[in-house]
Amino acid sequence: MKMAIAIQLFFFLLIIHSHSAIPSIRLLRRSTSFSVTDFGAIGDGLHYDTTAIQSAINSCPAPSRCYVTFPPGTYLTATIWLRSGVVLDIQPGATVLAGTKMEDYPADSSRWFAVVAENASDVGISGGGTVDGQGLKFVEKFDKRKNVMVSWNKTGACYGDECRPDLVGFIGSNKVRVSNVSFNQPAHWCLHLVRCENTVIEDVSIYGDFDTPNNDGIDIEDSNNTLITRCRIDTGDDAICPKSSNGPVFNLTATNCWIRTKSSAIKLGSASWFNFTRMLFDNLTIVDSHRGLAFQLRDGGSANDITFSNINITTRYYDPSWWGRAEPIYVTTCPRDPGSKEGSISNIRFTNITATSENGVFLSGSKSGVLSNLRFTNVKLRYKRWTKYGGGIADYRPGCQGFVKHGMAGMIMEHIEGLNLENVDMHWFDTNGSLQWNNPLDFRPSTVNNISFLNFHSGYSSG
Ligand SMILES: *[C@@H]1O[C@H](CO)[C@@H](O)[C@H](O)[C@H]1NC(C)=O
Ligand SMILES: *[C@@H]1O[C@H](CO)[C@@H](O)[C@H](O)[C@H]1NC(C)=O
Ligand SMILES: *[C@@H]1O[C@H](CO)[C@@H](O)[C@H](O)[C@H]1NC(C)=O
Ligand SMILES: *[C@@H]1O[C@H](CO)[C@@H](O)[C@H](O)[C@H]1NC(C)=O
Ligand SMILES: *[C@@H]1O[C@H](CO)[C@@H](O)[C@H](O)[C@H]1NC(C)=O
Ligand SMILES: *[C@@H]1O[C@H](CO)[C@@H](O)[C@H](O)[C@H]1NC(C)=O
Ligand SMILES: *[C@@H]1O[C@H](CO)[C@@H](O)[C@H](O)[C@H]1NC(C)=O
Ligand SMILES: *[C@@H]1O[C@H](CO)[C@@H](O)[C@H](O)[C@H]1NC(C)=O
Ligand SMILES: *[C@@H]1O[C@H](CO)[C@@H](O)[C@H](O)[C@H]1NC(C)=O
Ligand SMILES: *[C@@H]1O[C@H](CO)[C@@H](O)[C@H](O)[C@H]1NC(C)=O
Ligand SMILES: *[C@@H]1O[C@H](CO)[C@@H](O)[C@H](O)[C@H]1NC(C)=O
Repeated sequence: MKMAIAIQLFFFLLIIHSHSAIPSIRLLRRSTSFSVTDFGAIGDGLHYDTTAIQSAINSCPAPSRCYVTFPPGTYLTATIWLRSGVVLDIQPGATVLAGTKMEDYPADSSRWFAVVAENASDVGISGGGTVDGQGLKFVEKFDKRKNVMVSWNKTGACYGDECRPDLVGFIGSNKVRVSNVSFNQPAHWCLHLVRCENTVIEDVSIYGDFDTPNNDGIDIEDSNNTLITRCRIDTGDDAICPKSSNGPVFNLTATNCWIRTKSSAIKLGSASWFNFTRMLFDNLTIVDSHRGLAFQLRDGGSANDITFSNINITTRYYDPSWWGRAEPIYVTTCPRDPGSKEGSISNIRFTNITATSENGVFLSGSKSGVLSNLRFTNVKLRYKRWTKYGGGIADYRPGCQGFVKHGMAGMIMEHIEGLNLENVDMHWFDTNGSLQWNNPLDFRPSTVNNISFLNFHSGYSSG
């Protein structure tokens, strides 16, 4: 199995590199470089530098490689549009500062980004500097549980509560490379890929306010062949979040990342109209998060062939207004609304996982959305309580049955066909003598079929 993953990763890297590295070496020889200051950018953080930045980009001899350089300074800007071949080279000490006024963004709310490329190839951001979304300026009311955010829905620009600009977007683009850059305080999603192919995101650091909703780290929507590596994501909402709204997601690899979030560290969904296929999440550290590794399929799309390996997780309770109840692993397929379809989840591997959590693992398929062939190998689950939030609730949100009272269990299982646990160790820590870890394994044989345990161990410590 390890070999299969290695081969998969190898071919995947080969594909990415055969698409990008070789052509870019050729392009490098005749690459161009422009400094935004030569086009009149001031970089004082007060005057808008939009026109200067856009002129520098537009002067690039597309589609050959062109670096648009930002020397140290703070460049306030409305939406800037990248083109094929353009790399924003934001140097250390330079910050691209996103505007906070609605007129800083295009009329079409699906194009609300500070930096965006559409239908471009060989395009990206690098250089060691920062892109800042000034997310705190979108807070209407600060609240430690969850901030109340400004919403531009009031003008009718878009519907719902999440009517705020994303920070950086790539739409319909090929060979995107985002490397060595920090993203700060997005007002809404931070780095958003839509219908992209062959994307590399590496050495990226994302920092979003911990109390702000919807400031996701990386959303990989309807996109294939994405590699995320050496990232650090510390944010309020979901950290790495594949979504299938209008098309499937194939071949996503995320490795060597550190994550903290008040929502899910890895979350498939909840937008899940199409399939999620072939993904590898390896060598991740997830700390103090609300939910660790999560499938929230709600719209009929399925997930197949997904591996989680070499991952350390700590999950704890936070305010219940955030989805999540401290589950280190959460695999669900319930229908969002009574009319929604149910996707299935199959061939999922959890290997070399260590979790310390305030709640158990939740594996819940649905009648027509069964979980099949799940494998847990070398998994250590440590159960402890250290916050004051109450437990005893199964969280099916979004949609479905919502919150349901349910005794605390080490592993809750519903609607499963084929579950294999090998070298699984559960350990309960009860410092208070009154914790109700009363249900190590919770399932009904009528909905859970073919479970096998090989080398299962359970232990308890008090005091
Ligand atoms: C799991 O850990 C073992 C021991 O460290 C290692 O030999 C094995 O390659 C790991 N498996 C995977 C899939 O990384
Ligand atoms: C996914 O990667 C495999 C190689 O691992 C490749 O054969 C396949 O074409 C890729 N799928 C898509 C949709 O690009
Ligand atoms: C990008 O391509 C799509 C599909 O071909 C097209 O509908 C859209 O108008 C294009 N967008 C831009 C900005 O060129
Ligand atoms: C990031 O860019 C800076 C400035 O060019 C450079 O000094 C540094 O080595 C780069 N870091 C990585 C990980 O590429
Ligand atoms: C607009 O957003 C606010 C939250 O900021 C929300 O309470 C309200 O329901 C939204 N209105 C519409 C029409 O979506
Ligand atoms: C991803 O691959 C699938 C399967 O080949 C294809 O249907 C889909 O259009 C691809 N997505 C993009 C953005 O090219
Ligand atoms: C795992 O990721 C960390 C960064 O989070 C890195 O320092 C370490 O080298 C990686 N380990 C392996 C085996 O790749
Ligand atoms: C997980 O924790 C173990 C024990 O502390 C450590 O050896 C390992 O490197 C950690 N792995 C990751 C991915 O953080
Ligand atoms: C989606 O996945 C399901 C379950 O694996 C499969 O039956 C279906 O054919 C897939 N759909 C597509 C379009 O590949
Ligand atoms: C039980 O599930 C395993 C996978 O966990 C599968 O390989 C096996 O074929 C199943 N056995 C039966 C009798 O369905
Ligand atoms: C110990 O348990 C009691 C009863 O559940 C609870 O009221 C109290 O807060 C717990 N103390 C600690 C330190 O968790």
